[in-house]
Amino acid sequence: GNTSQGGQSAPAGPADSPFVRACRRLPVPYTPVWFMRQAGRSLPEYRELRAGVAMLESCRRPELVREITLQPVRRHGVDAAVLFSDIVVPVAVAGVDLEIVPGTGPVVAQPVRDAADVDRIRPITADDLSFVDEAVRMLVADLGDTPLIGFAGAPFTLASYLIEGGPSRTHAKTKALMYGAPEVWHALCGRLAEITGEFLRVQVDAGASAVQLFDSWAGALSEADYRRFVLPHSAKVLAGLADTDIPRIHFGVGTAELLGAMGEAGADVVGVDWRTPLDAATVRIGPDKAIQGNLDPCVLFAPWPVIEAEVRRILAEGASAPGHVFNLGHGVLPETDPEVLTRVVALVHEASAR
Ligand code: CP3
Repeated sequence: GNTSQGGQSAPAGPADSPFVRACRRLPVPYTPVWFMRQAGRSLPEYRELRAGVAMLESCRRPELVREITLQPVRRHGVDAAVLFSDIVVPVAVAGVDLEIVPGTGPVVAQPVRDAADVDRIRPITADDLSFVDEAVRMLVADLGDTPLIGFAGAPFTLASYLIEGGPSRTHAKTKALMYGAPEVWHALCGRLAEITGEFLRVQVDAGASAVQLFDSWAGALSEADYRRFVLPHSAKVLAGLADTDIPRIHFGVGTAELLGAMGEAGADVVGVDWRTPLDAATVRIGPDKAIQGNLDPCVLFAPWPVIEAEVRRILAEGASAPGHVFNLGHGVLPETDPEVLTRVVALVHEASAR
């Protein structure tokens, strides 16, 4: 209800949750926390549900998506759910023949080499993503005041998978195409920006409370190349939601030199990996954006007193930002003990309570 008691109003749904408020740089009762890859192999209940169902197939089953998305919320008491899907889901819908191979990641049957390969990637519409719409609507109803985060892959990270054919350490083929055939590069990223933008739009229209644009591998580029070859395309994706008041988080790994530019691309929140302390990151990003991060996922394998000290350090460094969402610096590793994650959530809440 909307009744006020003693000046304290009752929670007004996910838009007034600590997570969304922190993204908007508004006062919060405690620092909100969620984990990238919180839904996944660290949870035995996830492994059980996924048994015998391929990753991409599981993303197309709304009831399965619903249950897998809710599992970490129930177990850990995190401040946000993140839709169970994958960055390559809309690319598969666009006709690219790909698979998500366990232990490897996305593998593309016919990697993109030239303009004809780009032309074969079809534009998509909301109708092609009705399974996403259905899952998000059910989840928003289930979650009540807990926000649901939607997400998509940014053009550079998606282009890298499409050009390399799979994961790559150097991104050599990607950069060869970027430098050697810039018209093909820009055509590919333009098409990917439309596809991934449609994926975000469907999630937002179905009720997601925030979105995260994952440019996981953008840290492979210099700032100058990032600004020239990538930023305009990511900016287009983020600008596609400028007519909404949905907070936009922009995240990559190894992006210390890119944090300012990634904010300029149109983010409300910039995600930071574990390499840059949050107080230093805040200086680079500027005072008009919130930050998210940045516990090293490997610290979760350390003894508890080490974890506790790291969590407290990050909360102290994050306090210099105008808004802080606690998270890891990258996704939860499959070997992580889920009980440690639950304990981290409780510690973040207790240690940051105002
Ligand atoms: O964060 C969440 O809990 C939401 C779900 C989510 C998944 N993938 C589920 C998933 C999100 C946000 C992603 C994004 C994603 N996918 C990214 C960006 C984030 C990042 O990690 O940098 C990237 C690069 C991908 C591509 C991808 N998909 C990789 C590298 C892998 C791991 C392959 C492996 O087996 O190690 C996947 C598969 C994947 N996506 C899994 C999950 C839960 C594992 C599938 C399984 O359980 O077998």
